[in-house]
Amino acid sequence: MRFSEDIGIDLGTATFLIYSKSRGLVLQEPSVIAMTRDSKQVKAVGEEAYRMIGRTPGGIIAVRPIKDGVIADELLTERMITMFLQKVQGGAGRLFGLKPQLMVGIPSNVSDVERRAVLRAALNANARRAFLIEEPLAAAIGAGIKIAEPVGSMIVDIGGGSSDIAVISLGGIVVSESLRVAGDEFDESIIRYVRRKHNVLVGERTAEEIKVKVGAATLLDESENLTAEVRGRDLVNGLPKTITLDTREVVEALAEPVSQIVEGVKRVLEITPPELVSDILDHGIVMTGGGSLLRNFDQLIQQATNIPVRVADNAVEAVAVGTGMALEMIPVLGDSLVSSDHYLRR
Ligand SMILES: Nc1ncnc2c1ncn2[C@@H]1O[C@H](COP(=O)(O)OP(=O)(O)OP(=O)(O)O)[C@@H](O)[C@H]1O
Ligand SMILES: [Mg+2]
Repeated sequence: MRFSEDIGIDLGTATFLIYSKSRGLVLQEPSVIAMTRDSKQVKAVGEEAYRMIGRTPGGIIAVRPIKDGVIADELLTERMITMFLQKVQGGAGRLFGLKPQLMVGIPSNVSDVERRAVLRAALNANARRAFLIEEPLAAAIGAGIKIAEPVGSMIVDIGGGSSDIAVISLGGIVVSESLRVAGDEFDESIIRYVRRKHNVLVGERTAEEIKVKVGAATLLDESENLTAEVRGRDLVNGLPKTITLDTREVVEALAEPVSQIVEGVKRVLEITPPELVSDILDHGIVMTGGGSLLRNFDQLIQQATNIPVRVADNAVEAVAVGTGMALEMIPVLGDSLVSSDHYLRR
């Protein structure tokens, strides 16, 4: 008998990743779908659809089916999963002719309705069986934390739509908090700041570029201050205008959302059982997700908590890698997983 390819999926707000047990990371594309406004005919998905954001002609819209870490559009999410799976399975999937098992990472605190929607989407996308795993647990596995042991670990996963802070021990989440403040909110804060301080309107993608190029959670040293030329629309006369932004300004722009995440980490530590806090002190806090790449974010959390913090080497892929690995840890994960067999009446 030949085995089908088991697949892990990180259904991210910003990025969709597929990890295959045998082939590693096989897909990493923006979670965007472009379609015609009226007939909802899908025109493009992923990278190609992302390039259309803010640039579509009247009849076409580019949307993110997952917003703030929740399924905003069930049908489109399903379409997206199907299209991406087809893309990676290509000939091989058909050759084997066997349906894969899917492990899908979902944000913690999603509702029952949303869980069912994702499971249905996975099965409709030709999976034999589907499991859901909470993102912070998958992130911890993917970051190489030994989650099965009776030792506490803290993971802070900062994505596009949500920040998940969780303490894990014995294969499960002990305490956690999910904030709808993450990378997207950083971009919006930059847009608001530039409008307020410079009277210039910049788009979503420009704001993200500013964040990645010159942004930081805090400035540790004057020499870290970088500058960027930014193009936008002058709100006074409506004409294009180029301004210069520096890191100090971006730190100021991001202060509010960044401090919300830091406060969230502190709150979770406050309700963590003391034995586990002691473990976390020994092993440090691990950060994952694209948002954790914001410069000096680890340092800021370290200062605020007095606990060592490190960003995982594979911060962006950690959840996807973890979902793939979780397929081999089903007995250990037990109740931490939601299975389509139990959850959906078929
Ligand atoms: N170098 C960087 N510096 C700062 N932010 C970054 C960097 N690289 C990526 N990001 C941000 O990371 C975010 C995406 O992270 P990630 O891919 O982990 O999100 P996601 O898993 O799709 O979202 P979620 O987990 O909320 O559903 C985006 O907001 C992006 O702008
Ligand atoms: Mg994520």
